[in-house]
Amino acid sequence: MEPKLSNRIQSLATSQTIAMAERAADLKAEGVNIISLSLGEPDFDTPDYIIEAAEKAIENKFFKYPPVTGYKDTREAIARKLKRDNNLDYDINQIVVSNGSKQSIFNAAMVLVSPGDEVLLPSPFWVSYKEITKLVGGIPVPVKATIENDFKITPEQLERAITPKTKLMIFNTPSNPSGSVYSKKELKALGEVLKKYPDIYIISDEIYEYINFTGNFASFAEVSGLKDRVITINGASKAFAMTGWRVGYMAAHPTIAKACIKIQSQVTSGANSIAQKALIAALDGGKEKIKYMIDAFDERRQLVYQLLNDIPGFKVNMPEGAFYFFPEVTEFFGKEFNGYKIKNATDLSMYLLEEAKVATVTGEAFGNPECLRFSYATSKEDLIEAFNRIKKALKF
Ligand SMILES: Cc1ncc(COP(=O)(O)O)c(C=O)c1O
Repeated sequence: MEPKLSNRIQSLATSQTIAMAERAADLKAEGVNIISLSLGEPDFDTPDYIIEAAEKAIENKFFKYPPVTGYKDTREAIARKLKRDNNLDYDINQIVVSNGSKQSIFNAAMVLVSPGDEVLLPSPFWVSYKEITKLVGGIPVPVKATIENDFKITPEQLERAITPKTKLMIFNTPSNPSGSVYSKKELKALGEVLKKYPDIYIISDEIYEYINFTGNFASFAEVSGLKDRVITINGASKAFAMTGWRVGYMAAHPTIAKACIKIQSQVTSGANSIAQKALIAALDGGKEKIKYMIDAFDERRQLVYQLLNDIPGFKVNMPEGAFYFFPEVTEFFGKEFNGYKIKNATDLSMYLLEEAKVATVTGEAFGNPECLRFSYATSKEDLIEAFNRIKKALKF
């Protein structure tokens, strides 16, 4: 007999980015030469100076349960980083270290959202925001941005979406999947709206902060008068190529931080001890030490922009951060290629996997079903080969 699962889990979608990656992995296992442009992780190795810090932590036997909130020196390093890079003053009792920033986002949503509360999700949004919202009993309210506005929401759109039930907005800059980066001025304009609604909180997911080609980065908490309502989220995964280390963090009002510690103490306890020590080296090294990765991403970004523009049918904007392109693909809807009818972005994504052997992710997963996400966290050779194959598969 099938086990009967809870209502909670039945309403939850499996991450579509993972579903696609699994399908691609199955084909790979069958010996098919798949190029994956579907993943959200850097193709670099974690830098040596970070690995050395982890080795030192092992030598020093950091093997016991760490404090639930994170080691003091790890939280001090986070506070230093937030001051140095973002001009934000946080006391260490406002900082909680978790097993990846995903857990930090979940903790914050869990302690802020009551069943029936509305959660604003500027779309396209990262897949997990919607499912985390549902998991904590909230109602996801997408606020749709389009390619014409570089996938950024406007203050007017934000204000229109607010109701008396709005409790939270989950915000992301630089954005996965669009690569959009909000300027300080744009954040300030959104902040002006939020200042009128003192009961709304903002989770600001800044995990792609360093993978930003504009030369400028603005944190939501920098908007004057909003800091106490912003939960700043960041982590090691993307900037330092540390996805497997599972370490991220949040900084927030002490009451919110304390509540997150309470949740974490009952669910996972403190984050991995060795990863926490490695995080100190990563944060103290800062942006300069990983510039070679950002430069490589930027080169690929220029390359993919050309390759995509060379294929008729894709409407492309130039992303300013993260490592994704999110072109609009409606030109292909209603067309038929080699017997495949393309009705939507999901069909197109599947067709590209089956015909071009290139894995992508449908925009449907991110709340914008007109688009497709291409990750360029892979080699130039693979990118050139992938877009050659795509071009061939989409000849019309
Ligand atoms: C926007 C965004 N936030 C958070 C995460 C999760 O990162 P972490 O590995 O720190 O849990 C990801 C990973 O794909 C992401 O794209």
